[in-house]
Amino acid sequence: MAATPRAVTAAAAVEMCDLAGEELQRLAVGLPEFERVLGGGIVPGSLILVGGDPGIGKSTLLLQVAAMAAAAGGSVLYVSGEESAQQLQMRARRLGSDGHSMFVVAETDLDGALHAADSLQPALVVVDSIQTVHSQAAPSPPGSIGQLRECTMRLMQWAKGSGIPICIIGHVTKEGDIAGPRLLEHIVDVVLYLEGERFSSYRLLRGVKNRFGSTNEVGVFEMTALGLAAVENPSEVFLAERGEGAVGSVVVPTLEGSRPLLVEVQALTSPTMLAVPRRTANGLDFNRLILITAVLAKRAGLALANQDVIANVVGGLRVQEPAVDLALALAIASSNRDAALPSDLVAVGEVGLSGELRSVGQLERRLGEAERLGFRRCLLPQAALRRVTPATSLELMPAASVREAIRLAFA
Ligand SMILES: Nc1ncnc2c1ncn2[C@@H]1O[C@H](COP(=O)(O)OP(=O)(O)OP(=O)(O)O)[C@@H](O)[C@H]1O
Ligand SMILES: [Mg+2]
Repeated sequence: MAATPRAVTAAAAVEMCDLAGEELQRLAVGLPEFERVLGGGIVPGSLILVGGDPGIGKSTLLLQVAAMAAAAGGSVLYVSGEESAQQLQMRARRLGSDGHSMFVVAETDLDGALHAADSLQPALVVVDSIQTVHSQAAPSPPGSIGQLRECTMRLMQWAKGSGIPICIIGHVTKEGDIAGPRLLEHIVDVVLYLEGERFSSYRLLRGVKNRFGSTNEVGVFEMTALGLAAVENPSEVFLAERGEGAVGSVVVPTLEGSRPLLVEVQALTSPTMLAVPRRTANGLDFNRLILITAVLAKRAGLALANQDVIANVVGGLRVQEPAVDLALALAIASSNRDAALPSDLVAVGEVGLSGELRSVGQLERRLGEAERLGFRRCLLPQAALRRVTPATSLELMPAASVREAIRLAFA
C-alpha cells in the first residue's frame, strides 16, 4: 500500500552568520587527564560514550567525574541500572566524595530517569550503563540492539534540547561488539575507551571519536583504592622496573596522540617443542610480530624457524603504531643472541617487508622524551634524517635496514 501523502511544511533554515557566535563554555571537571582526552572540558549538550571491558573501572571514572562536577557547584544525576543507590554511595565514599549535590536514580526506565533530569536540571547526567536502561518507546526487549539505539537516540535528543551533557557507559562484549558500544559510535559525539590489562593497575583512556577535539589524546591513570589517579609521568612509571642489561629488552619512544611515551618491549625466543613454532604477542599487534620475525629470518639471517617467539609490552600497555617495529626486531635479535643491548639506547622505526627501515613522524618529540629520561643514544631509520636533523643531544645512529640496525646495536 502506498503511503498517504502528508502536508509538508518548510523547516526553518538559519544563516550561520546570524547565530550567536560565542564559544561554548566547556564544563571543567577538575580531572585534567579526562579533560585532556576530551580536548578541554565537557562541551554543553554533548553525548559522551565511555566503553571498556567489564571491571576495568568505567563506573569508578565517571563517579569521580560526577563527584568533581558536583563539588564544582553544579548538581549531577547518576542513573544507575547496575548498582543500587547504597552501593553507589559506598563507592563514592571510598573515592572521597560526601555525596552532596549527587543525585542517584537506580532505575532502568529511561523515560522516568529523563523526567527526573528534567526537574533537576543538573550540570551533568551519567547513565551507567546503556545496556541496562530501556525505553518504552521501543518495542524490543531490554538489552537488544533496538533498545540500545532507541535509548541512545533519546539521550542525544535530550542532551541537545537541554544543553546538558550526558556521559553514558557501554560494556564492550568479548566476541566482536554486536550488542556493544561500537553500534552506537556513529550516534554519539565523543567515544572514549578505557583500556588496560586485568592484572596491571594502569589504565589508558583513549579517544576514538570526538566531534569537538582531537581523537588521538590519551589519559594515563592508575587504579588505586581512592579511584583512578592521574599518572603525571608515565614514561618514568613504565620504565621503573627495567633491569640494567636485560636480554631481550628494548625501549622505544612511542607517541600516544601528541604525548611521547617511552615503553619497554620485551622478547623471548626459545627452541620449540611443536612442529610449527609459536608466536605470542601481548600488547603488540600479532600480525606485526609475524611480519617482523619473517623479515628477521629472511633479511637479517636470524634462525627463528625452530624458535617460539614471545613478545610483550611492559606495564599492560598496548602499542599500535608501526614505529615500535625496530624495537621489537632488536628485542628478538637480543634474545636470539642472548646478548643485551646497551642500556642507554632507544630504538624507533618502522620495518618494511624487504627489511628496510621506514621513517616515523614527530621524531623530535620522541627524542626529547628519551633525552629527558636519561637515554643517550637512538637507533633510527636513515630515511628519518633525510629532511630534517632533529635538535637533540642524543647520539643518533641511523640505519638503512634492520640488518644494519642489528649490527650497530651490538657493535
Ligand atoms: N578497594 C579497592 N581498591 C582498589 N581498587 C578497587 C577497589 N575496589 C574496586 N577496585 C577496582 O575497581 C574495579 C571495578 O571498577 P568499576 O566497577 O568502576 O568497573 P566497571 O568498568 O564499571 O565494571 P562493570 O563492568 O562491572 O560495571 C575493580 O576491578 C578493581 O580493580
Ligand atoms: Mg560499572
